[in-house]
Amino acid sequence: VVDFRTFFPDTGMFTYDPGYTSTASCSSTITFIDGSKGELRYRGIPIETLATEHSYLETCYLLLNEHLPGKEELLDFDLELRHRAYIHEGLRTLFNAFPDNAHPMATLSATVTALASFHKEHLTLDNEADFHTMASRILAKIPTIAAFSYRHSLGIPFIQPNIELSFTENFLTMMRAYPGGKMKLTANGHSEIKEVEVRALDTIFTLHADHEQNASTTVVRGVASTGAHPYVAIASGISALWGRAHGGANESVIAQLEMIGSVDRVEEFIARAKDPNDDFRLMGFGHRVYKNFDPRAKILKTLQDELKEELDLDSHLMEIAGRIEEIALSDEYFISRNLYPNIDFYTGIILTALQIPKNMFTPIFVIGRTVGWITQWIEFKKDPTSKIARPRQLYVGK
Ligand code: ACO
Repeated sequence: VVDFRTFFPDTGMFTYDPGYTSTASCSSTITFIDGSKGELRYRGIPIETLATEHSYLETCYLLLNEHLPGKEELLDFDLELRHRAYIHEGLRTLFNAFPDNAHPMATLSATVTALASFHKEHLTLDNEADFHTMASRILAKIPTIAAFSYRHSLGIPFIQPNIELSFTENFLTMMRAYPGGKMKLTANGHSEIKEVEVRALDTIFTLHADHEQNASTTVVRGVASTGAHPYVAIASGISALWGRAHGGANESVIAQLEMIGSVDRVEEFIARAKDPNDDFRLMGFGHRVYKNFDPRAKILKTLQDELKEELDLDSHLMEIAGRIEEIALSDEYFISRNLYPNIDFYTGIILTALQIPKNMFTPIFVIGRTVGWITQWIEFKKDPTSKIARPRQLYVGK
Protein backbone atom coordinates (compact mmCIF):
# COMPACT_ATOMS: atom_id res chain seq x y z
CA VAL A 1 0.00 0.00 0.00
CA VAL A 2 1.44 3.36 -1.02
CA ASP A 3 0.70 6.48 0.99
CA PHE A 4 0.64 9.16 -1.74
CA ARG A 5 1.14 11.90 0.84
CA THR A 6 4.74 10.75 1.18
CA PHE A 7 5.33 11.88 -2.41
CA PHE A 8 3.12 14.94 -2.53
CA PRO A 9 2.98 16.45 0.93
CA ASP A 10 1.74 19.81 -0.39
CA THR A 11 -0.97 18.50 -2.73
CA GLY A 12 -4.58 18.30 -1.65
CA MET A 13 -5.37 15.37 -3.90
CA PHE A 14 -3.48 12.99 -6.13
CA THR A 15 -5.10 10.56 -8.56
CA TYR A 16 -3.37 7.57 -10.09
CA ASP A 17 -5.22 6.70 -13.30
CA PRO A 18 -3.21 4.70 -15.86
CA GLY A 19 -4.69 5.18 -19.35
CA TYR A 20 -6.80 8.07 -17.95
CA THR A 21 -9.87 5.84 -17.81
CA SER A 22 -11.70 8.22 -15.48
CA THR A 23 -9.89 11.53 -15.87
CA ALA A 24 -11.27 14.43 -17.92
CA SER A 25 -8.38 16.47 -19.30
CA CYS A 26 -10.50 19.40 -20.50
CA SER A 27 -14.02 20.69 -20.93
CA SER A 28 -15.35 20.86 -24.49
CA THR A 29 -18.41 21.89 -26.52
CA ILE A 30 -17.50 19.93 -29.65
CA THR A 31 -18.49 16.29 -29.30
CA PHE A 32 -20.81 14.48 -26.90
CA ILE A 33 -20.61 10.72 -26.31
CA ASP A 34 -22.83 8.63 -24.07
CA GLY A 35 -20.96 5.32 -24.07
CA SER A 36 -23.65 3.36 -22.26
CA LYS A 37 -26.43 4.47 -24.61
CA GLY A 38 -24.27 4.38 -27.74
CA GLU A 39 -24.88 8.07 -28.53
CA LEU A 40 -22.60 10.41 -30.44
CA ARG A 41 -23.31 14.07 -31.33
CA TYR A 42 -21.23 16.77 -32.95
CA ARG A 43 -22.20 20.24 -31.68
CA GLY A 44 -25.44 18.71 -30.42
CA ILE A 45 -26.47 17.06 -33.71
CA PRO A 46 -26.79 13.25 -33.70
CA ILE A 47 -24.26 11.41 -35.85
CA GLU A 48 -27.13 9.53 -37.55
CA THR A 49 -28.53 12.84 -38.89
CA LEU A 50 -25.15 14.05 -40.10
CA ALA A 51 -24.26 10.76 -41.76
CA THR A 52 -27.51 10.42 -43.64
CA GLU A 53 -28.63 14.01 -44.34
CA HIS A 54 -25.43 16.05 -44.60
CA SER A 55 -22.11 15.95 -46.42
CA TYR A 56 -18.67 15.71 -44.88
CA LEU A 57 -17.95 19.35 -45.78
CA GLU A 58 -21.13 20.46 -44.00
CA THR A 59 -19.94 18.47 -40.98
CA CYS A 60 -16.52 20.15 -41.13
CA TYR A 61 -18.21 23.54 -41.26
CA LEU A 62 -20.41 22.59 -38.30
CA LEU A 63 -17.45 21.51 -36.16
CA LEU A 64 -15.46 24.64 -36.95
CA ASN A 65 -18.29 27.20 -36.85
CA GLU A 66 -20.72 25.66 -34.34
CA HIS A 67 -23.61 25.69 -36.83
CA LEU A 68 -24.45 23.97 -40.11
CA PRO A 69 -23.71 26.15 -43.14
CA GLY A 70 -26.34 27.92 -45.22
CA LYS A 71 -26.17 27.47 -49.00
CA GLU A 72 -23.84 30.45 -49.61
CA GLU A 73 -21.62 29.60 -46.64
CA LEU A 74 -21.19 26.07 -47.93
CA LEU A 75 -20.37 27.24 -51.46
CA ASP A 76 -17.70 29.64 -50.16
CA PHE A 77 -16.19 27.00 -47.88
CA ASP A 78 -16.16 24.39 -50.64
CA LEU A 79 -14.54 26.77 -53.12
CA GLU A 80 -11.92 27.82 -50.60
CA LEU A 81 -10.93 24.20 -49.91
CA ARG A 82 -10.73 23.46 -53.65
CA HIS A 83 -8.31 26.39 -54.09
CA ARG A 84 -6.18 25.40 -51.14
CA ALA A 85 -5.80 21.72 -52.11
CA TYR A 86 -2.55 22.27 -54.04
CA ILE A 87 0.73 21.78 -52.19
CA HIS A 88 3.96 23.73 -52.60
CA GLU A 89 6.37 22.27 -55.16
CA GLY A 90 9.09 22.24 -52.49
CA LEU A 91 6.93 20.00 -50.36
CA ARG A 92 6.30 17.71 -53.31
CA THR A 93 10.01 17.10 -53.83
CA LEU A 94 10.27 15.99 -50.19
CA PHE A 95 8.58 12.73 -51.19
CA ASN A 96 11.73 11.74 -53.11
CA ALA A 97 13.53 11.35 -49.78
CA PHE A 98 11.31 8.47 -48.67
CA PRO A 99 11.92 4.84 -49.66
CA ASP A 100 9.50 3.55 -52.30
CA ASN A 101 7.84 1.16 -49.90
CA ALA A 102 7.38 3.71 -47.10
CA HIS A 103 4.06 3.29 -45.33
CA PRO A 104 1.79 6.20 -46.37
CA MET A 105 1.22 7.03 -42.66
CA ALA A 106 4.95 7.67 -42.18
CA THR A 107 5.13 9.89 -45.27
CA LEU A 108 1.91 11.67 -44.31
CA SER A 109 3.06 12.50 -40.79
CA ALA A 110 6.49 13.71 -41.92
CA THR A 111 5.08 15.80 -44.75
CA VAL A 112 2.54 17.49 -42.48
CA THR A 113 5.39 18.38 -40.10
CA ALA A 114 7.24 19.86 -43.08
CA LEU A 115 4.11 21.84 -44.03
CA ALA A 116 4.54 23.76 -40.76
CA SER A 117 7.80 25.19 -42.12
CA PHE A 118 5.94 26.56 -45.18
CA HIS A 119 3.40 28.37 -42.98
CA LYS A 120 5.33 29.86 -40.10
CA GLU A 121 2.68 32.59 -39.86
CA HIS A 122 0.30 30.10 -38.21
CA LEU A 123 2.44 30.07 -35.07
CA THR A 124 0.70 33.29 -34.03
CA LEU A 125 -3.00 33.46 -34.71
CA ASP A 126 -4.49 36.78 -33.73
CA ASN A 127 -8.05 36.77 -34.99
CA GLU A 128 -10.87 34.61 -36.35
CA ALA A 129 -9.68 35.03 -39.94
CA ASP A 130 -6.23 33.67 -39.00
CA PHE A 131 -7.74 30.63 -37.30
CA HIS A 132 -10.00 30.04 -40.29
CA THR A 133 -7.16 30.22 -42.85
CA MET A 134 -4.96 27.91 -40.80
CA ALA A 135 -7.77 25.34 -40.43
CA SER A 136 -9.03 25.37 -44.03
CA ARG A 137 -5.48 25.11 -45.35
CA ILE A 138 -4.71 21.88 -43.49
CA LEU A 139 -8.16 20.42 -44.24
CA ALA A 140 -7.69 21.03 -47.95
CA LYS A 141 -4.11 19.79 -48.21
CA ILE A 142 -4.36 16.60 -46.16
CA PRO A 143 -6.14 14.60 -48.92
CA THR A 144 -3.52 15.72 -51.46
CA ILE A 145 -0.64 14.74 -49.18
CA ALA A 146 -2.35 11.42 -48.38
CA ALA A 147 -2.89 10.62 -52.08
CA PHE A 148 0.70 11.62 -52.93
CA SER A 149 1.96 9.43 -50.06
CA TYR A 150 0.11 6.49 -51.54
CA ARG A 151 1.29 7.11 -55.10
CA HIS A 152 4.85 7.50 -53.86
CA SER A 153 4.57 4.09 -52.16
CA LEU A 154 3.70 2.65 -55.60
CA GLY A 155 6.32 4.68 -57.45
CA ILE A 156 3.72 6.20 -59.78
CA PRO A 157 3.34 9.88 -60.78
CA PHE A 158 1.29 12.20 -58.62
CA ILE A 159 -2.08 13.46 -59.83
CA GLN A 160 -2.64 17.13 -58.98
CA PRO A 161 -5.93 18.20 -57.38
CA ASN A 162 -8.66 19.18 -59.83
CA ILE A 163 -10.50 22.35 -58.86
CA GLU A 164 -13.62 21.15 -60.68
CA LEU A 165 -14.10 18.19 -58.37
CA SER A 166 -15.71 18.01 -54.94
CA PHE A 167 -13.56 17.28 -51.87
CA THR A 168 -14.22 13.54 -51.79
CA GLU A 169 -14.28 12.96 -55.54
CA ASN A 170 -11.02 14.84 -55.85
CA PHE A 171 -9.35 12.59 -53.31
CA LEU A 172 -10.62 9.40 -55.00
CA THR A 173 -9.36 10.70 -58.35
CA MET A 174 -5.91 11.61 -57.00
CA MET A 175 -5.72 8.09 -55.55
CA ARG A 176 -7.09 6.03 -58.38
CA ALA A 177 -6.13 7.66 -61.65
CA TYR A 178 -3.80 4.78 -62.44
CA PRO A 179 -3.92 2.45 -65.39
CA GLY A 180 -3.72 -0.81 -63.48
CA GLY A 181 -5.82 -3.45 -61.79
CA LYS A 182 -9.48 -3.46 -62.59
CA MET A 183 -9.79 0.34 -62.68
CA LYS A 184 -11.61 1.79 -65.64
CA LEU A 185 -10.19 4.94 -67.18
CA THR A 186 -12.16 7.78 -68.70
CA ALA A 187 -11.01 9.77 -71.73
CA ASN A 188 -9.02 12.22 -69.59
CA GLY A 189 -7.08 9.37 -67.99
CA HIS A 190 -8.93 9.51 -64.68
CA SER A 191 -10.46 6.39 -63.27
CA GLU A 192 -14.21 6.50 -63.35
CA ILE A 193 -15.59 7.46 -59.97
CA LYS A 194 -19.17 6.42 -59.30
CA GLU A 195 -21.50 8.63 -57.32
CA VAL A 196 -22.22 5.81 -54.91
CA GLU A 197 -18.48 5.51 -54.17
CA VAL A 198 -18.23 9.22 -53.39
CA ARG A 199 -21.26 8.96 -51.10
CA ALA A 200 -19.83 5.95 -49.23
CA LEU A 201 -16.42 7.57 -48.68
CA ASP A 202 -18.00 10.89 -47.71
CA THR A 203 -20.03 9.09 -45.03
CA ILE A 204 -16.88 7.35 -43.75
CA PHE A 205 -15.17 10.76 -43.46
CA THR A 206 -18.17 12.14 -41.53
CA LEU A 207 -18.18 9.23 -39.10
CA HIS A 208 -14.50 9.83 -38.35
CA ALA A 209 -14.70 13.62 -38.05
CA ASP A 210 -14.30 13.85 -34.27
CA HIS A 211 -14.46 11.63 -31.22
CA GLU A 212 -13.71 13.80 -28.19
CA GLN A 213 -10.59 12.96 -26.15
CA ASN A 214 -9.40 9.77 -27.87
CA ALA A 215 -5.67 8.96 -27.85
CA SER A 216 -4.68 10.97 -30.94
CA THR A 217 -6.78 14.02 -29.98
CA THR A 218 -5.24 13.95 -26.52
CA VAL A 219 -1.83 14.00 -28.21
CA VAL A 220 -2.89 16.96 -30.39
CA ARG A 221 -4.06 18.92 -27.34
CA GLY A 222 -0.88 17.96 -25.46
CA VAL A 223 1.30 19.34 -28.26
CA ALA A 224 -0.94 22.43 -28.49
CA SER A 225 -0.35 22.99 -24.77
CA THR A 226 3.38 23.49 -25.34
CA GLY A 227 2.82 26.28 -27.89
CA ALA A 228 4.06 24.29 -30.90
CA HIS A 229 2.85 24.96 -34.46
CA PRO A 230 -0.71 23.63 -35.12
CA TYR A 231 0.42 21.47 -38.06
CA VAL A 232 3.06 19.83 -35.89
CA ALA A 233 0.29 19.00 -33.44
CA ILE A 234 -1.69 17.44 -36.32
CA ALA A 235 1.39 15.46 -37.42
CA SER A 236 1.68 14.14 -33.86
CA GLY A 237 -1.99 13.15 -33.96
CA ILE A 238 -1.33 11.27 -37.21
CA SER A 239 1.51 9.36 -35.57
CA ALA A 240 -0.64 8.47 -32.56
CA LEU A 241 -3.49 7.33 -34.80
CA TRP A 242 -1.26 4.90 -36.69
CA GLY A 243 -1.12 2.35 -33.83
CA ARG A 244 -3.31 -0.74 -34.19
CA ALA A 245 -5.07 -0.16 -30.85
CA HIS A 246 -6.37 3.09 -32.40
CA GLY A 247 -6.83 4.07 -36.07
CA GLY A 248 -4.46 1.38 -37.31
CA ALA A 249 -7.11 -1.17 -36.35
CA ASN A 250 -8.94 -0.68 -39.67
CA GLU A 251 -5.93 -2.00 -41.61
CA SER A 252 -5.54 -4.87 -39.13
CA VAL A 253 -9.21 -5.91 -39.39
CA ILE A 254 -8.96 -6.78 -43.09
CA ALA A 255 -5.54 -8.39 -42.59
CA GLN A 256 -7.10 -10.51 -39.85
CA LEU A 257 -10.16 -11.47 -41.93
CA GLU A 258 -7.82 -12.50 -44.75
CA MET A 259 -5.68 -14.49 -42.32
CA ILE A 260 -8.72 -16.31 -40.92
CA GLY A 261 -9.54 -17.06 -44.54
CA SER A 262 -12.73 -19.10 -44.16
CA VAL A 263 -15.88 -19.24 -42.06
CA ASP A 264 -14.85 -22.67 -40.70
CA ARG A 265 -11.84 -21.16 -38.95
CA VAL A 266 -13.68 -18.37 -37.12
CA GLU A 267 -14.26 -20.39 -33.93
CA GLU A 268 -10.57 -21.24 -33.69
CA PHE A 269 -9.68 -17.50 -33.69
CA ILE A 270 -12.49 -16.59 -31.29
CA ALA A 271 -11.01 -19.18 -28.90
CA ARG A 272 -7.60 -17.53 -29.29
CA ALA A 273 -9.06 -14.09 -28.56
CA LYS A 274 -10.52 -15.47 -25.32
CA ASP A 275 -7.35 -17.25 -24.23
CA PRO A 276 -5.60 -15.19 -21.50
CA ASN A 277 -2.26 -16.74 -22.49
CA ASP A 278 -2.58 -15.66 -26.12
CA ASP A 279 -2.12 -11.98 -26.98
CA PHE A 280 -4.32 -12.35 -30.08
CA ARG A 281 -7.19 -9.82 -30.08
CA LEU A 282 -10.18 -9.58 -32.38
CA MET A 283 -9.38 -6.41 -34.27
CA GLY A 284 -12.33 -4.05 -34.64
CA PHE A 285 -13.83 -5.21 -31.34
CA GLY A 286 -14.01 -3.28 -28.07
CA HIS A 287 -13.91 0.39 -27.23
CA ARG A 288 -12.81 2.41 -24.21
CA VAL A 289 -15.99 4.48 -24.12
CA TYR A 290 -18.74 2.55 -25.94
CA LYS A 291 -19.97 -0.20 -23.64
CA ASN A 292 -23.17 -0.99 -25.50
CA PHE A 293 -22.51 -0.41 -29.19
CA ASP A 294 -20.59 2.01 -31.35
CA PRO A 295 -23.23 4.09 -33.23
CA ARG A 296 -20.74 4.68 -36.06
CA ALA A 297 -20.40 0.92 -36.52
CA LYS A 298 -24.19 0.58 -36.69
CA ILE A 299 -24.40 3.24 -39.44
CA LEU A 300 -21.61 1.57 -41.40
CA LYS A 301 -23.18 -1.87 -41.11
CA THR A 302 -26.41 -0.48 -42.54
CA LEU A 303 -24.46 1.27 -45.30
CA GLN A 304 -22.58 -1.94 -46.04
CA ASP A 305 -25.84 -3.88 -46.38
CA GLU A 306 -27.39 -1.14 -48.55
CA LEU A 307 -24.42 -0.89 -50.89
CA LYS A 308 -23.58 -4.59 -51.04
CA GLU A 309 -24.76 -4.98 -54.63
CA GLU A 310 -23.96 -1.50 -55.94
CA LEU A 311 -20.40 -1.54 -54.65
CA ASP A 312 -19.78 -5.21 -55.32
CA LEU A 313 -18.58 -5.80 -51.75
CA ASP A 314 -16.40 -8.83 -51.08
CA SER A 315 -19.01 -11.37 -50.04
CA HIS A 316 -16.39 -13.85 -48.81
CA LEU A 317 -14.88 -11.37 -46.30
CA MET A 318 -18.39 -10.21 -45.35
CA GLU A 319 -19.34 -13.80 -44.59
CA ILE A 320 -16.31 -14.26 -42.29
CA ALA A 321 -16.98 -10.91 -40.59
CA GLY A 322 -20.66 -11.82 -40.18
CA ARG A 323 -19.76 -15.14 -38.53
CA ILE A 324 -17.34 -13.40 -36.13
CA GLU A 325 -20.07 -10.98 -35.14
CA GLU A 326 -22.62 -13.73 -34.72
CA ILE A 327 -20.41 -15.79 -32.40
CA ALA A 328 -18.88 -12.91 -30.45
CA LEU A 329 -22.20 -11.18 -29.77
CA SER A 330 -23.59 -14.29 -28.09
CA ASP A 331 -20.41 -15.32 -26.26
CA GLU A 332 -20.10 -14.77 -22.51
CA TYR A 333 -16.47 -13.58 -22.80
CA PHE A 334 -17.39 -10.70 -25.13
CA ILE A 335 -20.74 -9.92 -23.47
CA SER A 336 -19.28 -9.68 -19.95
CA ARG A 337 -16.51 -7.33 -21.16
CA ASN A 338 -18.86 -5.22 -23.31
CA LEU A 339 -16.90 -5.98 -26.46
CA TYR A 340 -18.85 -4.98 -29.57
CA PRO A 341 -17.76 -4.24 -33.14
CA ASN A 342 -16.34 -0.73 -33.41
CA ILE A 343 -16.18 1.57 -36.46
CA ASP A 344 -13.00 -0.08 -37.74
CA PHE A 345 -14.71 -3.45 -38.06
CA TYR A 346 -16.79 -2.24 -41.01
CA THR A 347 -14.72 0.38 -42.83
CA GLY A 348 -12.27 -2.05 -44.45
CA ILE A 349 -14.81 -4.01 -46.48
CA ILE A 350 -16.30 -0.81 -47.93
CA LEU A 351 -12.89 0.77 -48.59
CA THR A 352 -11.71 -2.37 -50.37
CA ALA A 353 -14.70 -2.10 -52.69
CA LEU A 354 -13.65 1.49 -53.43
CA GLN A 355 -10.31 0.06 -54.68
CA ILE A 356 -8.49 1.55 -51.71
CA PRO A 357 -5.63 -0.67 -50.58
CA LYS A 358 -5.13 -1.67 -46.94
CA ASN A 359 -2.19 0.66 -46.26
CA MET A 360 -4.46 3.63 -47.10
CA PHE A 361 -7.18 2.76 -44.58
CA THR A 362 -5.58 4.68 -41.72
CA PRO A 363 -4.72 7.70 -43.96
CA ILE A 364 -8.45 7.75 -44.85
CA PHE A 365 -9.16 7.95 -41.12
CA VAL A 366 -6.65 10.85 -40.95
CA ILE A 367 -8.49 12.76 -43.70
CA GLY A 368 -11.78 12.46 -41.82
CA ARG A 369 -10.29 13.22 -38.38
CA THR A 370 -8.21 16.27 -39.32
CA VAL A 371 -11.20 18.56 -38.82
CA GLY A 372 -11.73 17.19 -35.31
CA TRP A 373 -8.08 17.61 -34.37
CA ILE A 374 -7.92 21.17 -35.66
CA THR A 375 -11.23 22.14 -34.01
CA GLN A 376 -9.96 20.71 -30.71
CA TRP A 377 -6.67 22.59 -31.20
CA ILE A 378 -8.57 25.86 -31.68
CA GLU A 379 -10.82 25.20 -28.69
CA PHE A 380 -7.74 24.55 -26.55
CA LYS A 381 -6.10 27.79 -27.70
CA LYS A 382 -9.21 29.88 -27.04
CA ASP A 383 -9.87 28.42 -23.58
CA PRO A 384 -8.38 30.74 -20.93
CA THR A 385 -8.20 27.83 -18.46
CA SER A 386 -5.90 25.76 -20.75
CA LYS A 387 -2.62 24.74 -19.17
CA ILE A 388 0.42 22.79 -20.32
CA ALA A 389 -0.32 19.04 -20.22
CA ARG A 390 1.99 17.80 -17.52
CA PRO A 391 0.68 14.78 -15.59
CA ARG A 392 2.44 13.48 -12.50
CA GLN A 393 3.70 9.94 -11.91
CA LEU A 394 3.70 7.51 -9.05
CA TYR A 395 7.38 6.87 -8.42
CA VAL A 396 8.03 3.30 -7.32
CA GLY A 397 11.78 3.05 -8.03
CA LYS A 398 14.80 3.17 -5.69
N1 ACO B 1 -10.43 -9.07 -28.39
C1 ACO B 1 -10.36 -9.87 -27.28
N2 ACO B 1 -10.38 -9.41 -26.01
C2 ACO B 1 -10.44 -8.08 -25.86
C3 ACO B 1 -10.51 -7.19 -26.95
C4 ACO B 1 -10.51 -7.73 -28.25
N3 ACO B 1 -10.57 -6.93 -29.32
N4 ACO B 1 -10.56 -5.91 -26.50
C5 ACO B 1 -10.53 -6.00 -25.15
N5 ACO B 1 -10.46 -7.30 -24.77
C6 ACO B 1 -10.46 -7.80 -23.38
C7 ACO B 1 -9.11 -7.59 -22.71
O1 ACO B 1 -8.26 -8.71 -22.89
C8 ACO B 1 -9.53 -7.41 -21.26
O2 ACO B 1 -9.84 -8.68 -20.73
P1 ACO B 1 -9.53 -9.01 -19.18
O3 ACO B 1 -10.42 -8.10 -18.41
O4 ACO B 1 -9.85 -10.45 -19.03
O5 ACO B 1 -8.08 -8.70 -18.96
C9 ACO B 1 -10.84 -6.62 -21.36
O6 ACO B 1 -11.39 -7.01 -22.64
C10 ACO B 1 -10.69 -5.11 -21.31
O7 ACO B 1 -9.72 -4.70 -22.30
P2 ACO B 1 -8.80 -3.43 -22.19
O8 ACO B 1 -7.68 -3.58 -23.14
O9 ACO B 1 -8.48 -3.21 -20.74
O10 ACO B 1 -9.81 -2.29 -22.64
P3 ACO B 1 -9.44 -0.82 -23.09
O11 ACO B 1 -10.64 0.01 -22.90
O12 ACO B 1 -8.17 -0.40 -22.42
O13 ACO B 1 -9.09 -0.98 -24.65
C11 ACO B 1 -9.31 -1.15 -26.99
C12 ACO B 1 -9.95 -0.65 -25.69
C13 ACO B 1 -7.87 -0.66 -27.09
C14 ACO B 1 -10.12 -0.57 -28.15
C15 ACO B 1 -9.37 -2.70 -27.02
O14 ACO B 1 -10.71 -3.14 -26.94
C16 ACO B 1 -8.69 -3.28 -28.25
O15 ACO B 1 -7.47 -3.49 -28.24
N6 ACO B 1 -9.48 -3.58 -29.36
C17 ACO B 1 -8.91 -4.08 -30.58
C18 ACO B 1 -8.28 -2.94 -31.39
C19 ACO B 1 -9.34 -2.03 -31.99
O16 ACO B 1 -10.30 -2.45 -32.59
N7 ACO B 1 -9.08 -0.71 -31.86
C20 ACO B 1 -9.93 0.32 -32.43
C21 ACO B 1 -10.65 1.08 -31.35
S1 ACO B 1 -11.76 2.25 -32.09
C22 ACO B 1 -10.76 3.51 -32.62
O17 ACO B 1 -9.69 3.78 -32.10
C23 ACO B 1 -11.22 4.24 -33.75
